[in-house]
Amino acid sequence: MKYVVANWKMNKTISEGIEFVSMLKKENLPDDIVKTIIAPSFISINPIFEIIKNTKISLASQNVFYEEEGPYTGEISPLMLRSAGCEYAIIGHSERRILFNESNEIIFKKYISSKKNLLIPIICFGEKYEEYKKGATISVINDQLELFNNENNIIFAYEPVWSIGTGLIPKMNEIQNVIDYVKNKIKNSVVLYGGSVNLKNIEELAKIEVIDGYLVGGASLDLNNFKEIIIKSSC
Ligand code: 13P
Repeated sequence: MKYVVANWKMNKTISEGIEFVSMLKKENLPDDIVKTIIAPSFISINPIFEIIKNTKISLASQNVFYEEEGPYTGEISPLMLRSAGCEYAIIGHSERRILFNESNEIIFKKYISSKKNLLIPIICFGEKYEEYKKGATISVINDQLELFNNENNIIFAYEPVWSIGTGLIPKMNEIQNVIDYVKNKIKNSVVLYGGSVNLKNIEELAKIEVIDGYLVGGASLDLNNFKEIIIKSSC
């Protein structure tokens, strides 16, 4: 099974999200081969769930908090997300690490709490451009994933920071090396690739057998692009 996850980031109003999934669910998607997951903003999760609940499309949140309830103004717990129809949570996206100072420890706490509350975590990691240039990719990833060393069965997304929204992607053998490294380190892990996935590079990416799917940002905002990426991922 491959995963294709649409990370809409801070885009689309509730009605735009509803319109998108209403059209997407009418498409003949290869859903025996590809698990399609939409990660809209928190406020769109439940309205979108109402549209897709009888389909094979699933929902992810773009973030989650690690406490289960209490005085944490502005935060959302795994249980609340599940009650809204959400099955997955994207955790540790580089935008959260960089803009909101999320540390490896915070990310790990979010992972533990999500798992405990049966929300399936999708853990993001990836190096910055200077680190890539220095040849430090594996050592950065090693640090980012250190707390996960004794875990298994995790869905990860390898997203090089310098590849997000830039149109640049690593060489195919570089992606393959990272994915092999993570799969070796954490048993039974699933590793997606994210960073400028689009219709121009999806066929090339789909040749890398170890990739278990894609976390798609910009190209997931357009229905036709996203649908084509899902179809091409199944080939
Ligand atoms: P882009 O596909 O826009 O590069 O974004 C990737 C990403 O950050 C997905 O989480």
